[in-house]
Amino acid sequence: MTTENRVLGEVETYLEDESSTIALATQIAPLLLADDPGHPGTPQGGRIHLRGDLGAGKTSFARALLRACGVTGRIKSPSYALLESYKVSNLYLYHLDFYRFSDPREWIDAGFRDILQKQAVVLIEWPEQAGGLLPLPDLEINLSYAETGRQARLIAYSNKGQSWLTRLVLPPRGSHPPGASVGV
Ligand SMILES: Nc1ncnc2c1ncn2[C@@H]1O[C@H](COP(=O)(O)OP(=O)(O)O)[C@@H](O)[C@H]1O
Ligand SMILES: [Mg+2]
Repeated sequence: MTTENRVLGEVETYLEDESSTIALATQIAPLLLADDPGHPGTPQGGRIHLRGDLGAGKTSFARALLRACGVTGRIKSPSYALLESYKVSNLYLYHLDFYRFSDPREWIDAGFRDILQKQAVVLIEWPEQAGGLLPLPDLEINLSYAETGRQARLIAYSNKGQSWLTRLVLPPRGSHPPGASVGV
């Protein structure tokens, strides 16, 4: 099955400035923290892949999401360390950046496989650099330069990701160039 076949939902919106990027992350954060209906009392967590050119806003988004999940103190970009981890009450949050990832042995040494199996919040910048090592995320966010802001395309690859998309409130279509559109 190709990646295309597993797309369960897709939404696009225009982020006119950094505050819009932060607002989107702040809106998604509580969806990651919400109780899993099958396991009341446990945060559901989830995996988000952040794609886009350098400066597109992947770290801005991740930082705002971690902040809104309750992470306090400094949130460093993981571009050198590959991984920064946080814990808020009983929830683990992992922020990864594969920009400099080159050797699959690093993958095993750093215990990345364990991270992906935990019920945690996992944010991954440059997932494409990890080749085929990563499973599909719940949600992929593609950020691209558009006018003076960024166009964001959100793609759900799991039921969890799809349920997040249905709960997002995005600016109405056409409110900003090139507008927002919602698709299946
Ligand atoms: N929607 C937006 N429109 C314009 N500038 C933005 C937007 N979102 C973030 N920025 C700015 O773009 C830059 C993004 O940097 P960063 O988040 O480090 O990018 P990346 O991690 O994708 O390389 C920051 O300077 C931030 O202030
Ligand atoms: Mg970055």
